[in-house]
Amino acid sequence: MAPSDHTQFAPNSPAARDIAYYLHPFTNPKVHEENGPFIVNEGKGIYVYDDQGKEYIEGMSGLWCTSLGFGEERLAKAAYEQMLRLPYIQGFTHRSNEVAIDLAEKLVKMAPVEMGKVFFTNSGSEANDTQVKIVWYYNNARGKPEKKKIIGRHKAYHGITLAASSLTGVEYAQKGFDVPLDRFLHVTTPHYWREAEDGESEEQFAARLAQELDDLIVKEGPDTVAAFIAEPVMGAGGLIPPPETYFEKIQAVLKKHDVLMIADEVITGFMRTGNMFACETYNIQPDLMSIAKALSSAYLPIGAVLMTDKIYQVLRDGSDRFGMWNTGYTYSGHPVSAAVALETLRIYEERDTLGHVRSVMGTFQDQMQQFADHPLVGEVRGIGLFAALELTPDKENKGLFDPAAKVAPGMMARTQAHGLISRALPSDGIALCPPLIITEEQIGVCMERFSKALDETWAHVQKAGLV
Ligand SMILES: Cc1ncc(COP(=O)(O)O)c(C=O)c1O
Repeated sequence: MAPSDHTQFAPNSPAARDIAYYLHPFTNPKVHEENGPFIVNEGKGIYVYDDQGKEYIEGMSGLWCTSLGFGEERLAKAAYEQMLRLPYIQGFTHRSNEVAIDLAEKLVKMAPVEMGKVFFTNSGSEANDTQVKIVWYYNNARGKPEKKKIIGRHKAYHGITLAASSLTGVEYAQKGFDVPLDRFLHVTTPHYWREAEDGESEEQFAARLAQELDDLIVKEGPDTVAAFIAEPVMGAGGLIPPPETYFEKIQAVLKKHDVLMIADEVITGFMRTGNMFACETYNIQPDLMSIAKALSSAYLPIGAVLMTDKIYQVLRDGSDRFGMWNTGYTYSGHPVSAAVALETLRIYEERDTLGHVRSVMGTFQDQMQQFADHPLVGEVRGIGLFAALELTPDKENKGLFDPAAKVAPGMMARTQAHGLISRALPSDGIALCPPLIITEEQIGVCMERFSKALDETWAHVQKAGLV
């Protein structure tokens, strides 16, 4: 049946036209043709409204990105004014604009470690794809053409462009696309609750994973391994904070083998963990960093790579050999996106968003921890202003539901029915990552809705004989 033959939606309605014309990202097309889209046309503060006018708390900040919530007039104005002044100018071949210059300076100055330069992209995927190009070019330029392999972690999410999806370690983002490409390797997910051996402390677990990394680098040959990439807190793969001492131990291994550290701060950057960057939270000293999402509160697409001066100097000298630093996007340093990002950073400072996050994140985490005793909950994990529950049919043995039972997706649908947008993650995780502007009172409302959906999901799995 052709999509346009569907009759369950009124002819010419937005739903019918959506089905007819719009191929959605990360969406099952057949299910979509049957169920239609969930259409949201408006938002204000932490709330969004569907096409029937129903209100929802956007408990995921969209895709972990609308940090300042919806309807922020200052961001709309910044875009409008910049569009009138200069909607576009390229950044290639020495051209520039003062907004992009201001933003680059600001980002270098606010970076968690001393950084040298910023390279602008349009998204997190492009930032990570560019990281691969930087790392490869860097080693070509310094005469190490064999040093190219990049190590990521299973369950990592780094985006979906070809190289970024090779860095990624979640299966659902790779199936059918012939990735990972060669030279991309993956090590164990640093998930203490699920991956640690009996009796292993967090520190011992971290030591074992650092040893695994060391062994892999030695096995592959240190002269062939260029970089390691990590989200400080894994996001889409399960919202997994690292075990104690993990990054300290991992970084010691990387240093020993002259392997670069890439921190993917696309979700964690800009206060999500209770510090401006999660590199501060976990004492990570990256050579390269990717940022996006909350950089502009998602009001316009923009991402960036930050690199240390050590990397920049090699790229700079590499141009003697390769002609120039010969990569870039039409919209790198787009003045309107840059203006919105700058205004976002100004708002963060003027309103002391960091102080606000720190004042409410304890309540948020405490309220999530209240679900730890629930019979359906195996683990509650999180930091700052995001957290997840992992649902299990067997608390004691950390059992897994059959993925076909769609337990977490079912809970996500139930939170939505109660006016709360949450997100199902692999292994039946269910996450919340609200806008950073959320208040204590709103956290309370959010948790009431979450709690109702959890109880209903418990009733469902009992009735369906899944426990
Ligand atoms: C940690 C991380 N890196 C990269 C990306 C990719 O970013 P984008 O979707 O903007 O390409 C994401 C997206 O969720 C992410 O969570």
